Amino acid sequence: MLIDSFGRHIRYLRVSVTDRCNLFCNYCRLPNETLLPNNRELLSFAELVRLLRIFLALGIERIRLTGGEPLLRRNLVGLVQEIAQLPGLQELALTTNALLLERFAGALKKAGLQRVNISLDSLNPETFDHITQRHLLRPDLLPTRSEQLGLATVLAGIEAALQAGLHPVKINMVVMRGINDLEIPDMVQFAQQRGLLLRFIETMPVGVAGQEMASLFMPAEEILARIQSHFARQLIPVSGEHGSGPARYFRLVDSAADVGVISARSRHFCDTCNRMRLTSKGALVYCLGRSDRMDLKEHLRAGASDAEIQNIIYSAIALKPKQHEFEEKELYRPSNRMSALGG
Ligand code: GTP
Ligand code: 5AD
Repeated sequence: MLIDSFGRHIRYLRVSVTDRCNLFCNYCRLPNETLLPNNRELLSFAELVRLLRIFLALGIERIRLTGGEPLLRRNLVGLVQEIAQLPGLQELALTTNALLLERFAGALKKAGLQRVNISLDSLNPETFDHITQRHLLRPDLLPTRSEQLGLATVLAGIEAALQAGLHPVKINMVVMRGINDLEIPDMVQFAQQRGLLLRFIETMPVGVAGQEMASLFMPAEEILARIQSHFARQLIPVSGEHGSGPARYFRLVDSAADVGVISARSRHFCDTCNRMRLTSKGALVYCLGRSDRMDLKEHLRAGASDAEIQNIIYSAIALKPKQHEFEEKELYRPSNRMSALGG
């Protein structure tokens, strides 16, 4: 069992499989952020699966694949298939921008993926383009014509996830005042109609891009108040129904719509944090809001045994901090960008 110095039980590992992304969301990445990984730096699938086997033996139960955009990693379906068969795994999920999901949803489900969380910040094509800044992308990151469509492609990806039974399909909307906040009611309606579980996320000051957009963050309480006032209905807290992630969920009275908020800034959830992050380059990151990390790849490649890796993981867990420190300026280093941390 993995218990940190503050008595928190660590059961959940977020695993980034690539830093690359086919979107340039304004709160996540800057145009000059380096995109071309040296493949030697990435954990190979064999290295990753070996590490995950060790983590699962130590008590990790849930694994979420993230990026960058995880579907850009070649043969992700094959990786999912290998991970899904590992002993001890209770849940395997993926966070994606859904641009490639129409193509892969069915195969991912078949390979053993259980569910997906999808980033969608706007239902308005112009606002979507404004936030995702796809014009900044290098053309070679756009493999086919259809993948240049933006919002329509994401919506098709969402439908494909629903059809493939990757249930529940959760939608992540990062709310930015003056950019997409007026769409909050539309998003609630869209999610309700399509049977999606919508979560509103406070913009976090992680990485330079996140820091630049952080002043546009809208506190969760204001988001909830807007929903209540628009629909003229109360939101009642619901607990225990939608998993053990950082979101708090609410039900709109007399409707089937549940919504979540992820209030990392206005009301953090560090006391119940149950997770660690593994970067695509093999570093174990203890906390999204702190720069500390332990390089596991170095030990793997130096020939460490499973028992040695286990001990290194134990020593890393002991270093997990009590809570994030988003407000500390020194943290806004390039290595701390969201696209390398997996959100
Ligand atoms: P579920 O288990 O489905 O609830 O997943 P999740 O919400 O943990 O994962 P997802 O990848 O969808 O992340 C949603 C948002 O929560 C993103 O903005 C993440 O950056 C944020 N988030 C996830 N884990 C943490 C965390 O440990 N700390 C903070 N501050 N934010 C987190
Ligand atoms: N603040 C809040 N959420 C963010 N994400 C990426 N960057 C930020 C940020 N600065 C979200 C994405 C995705 C999830 C993994 O993290 O929208 O849904």
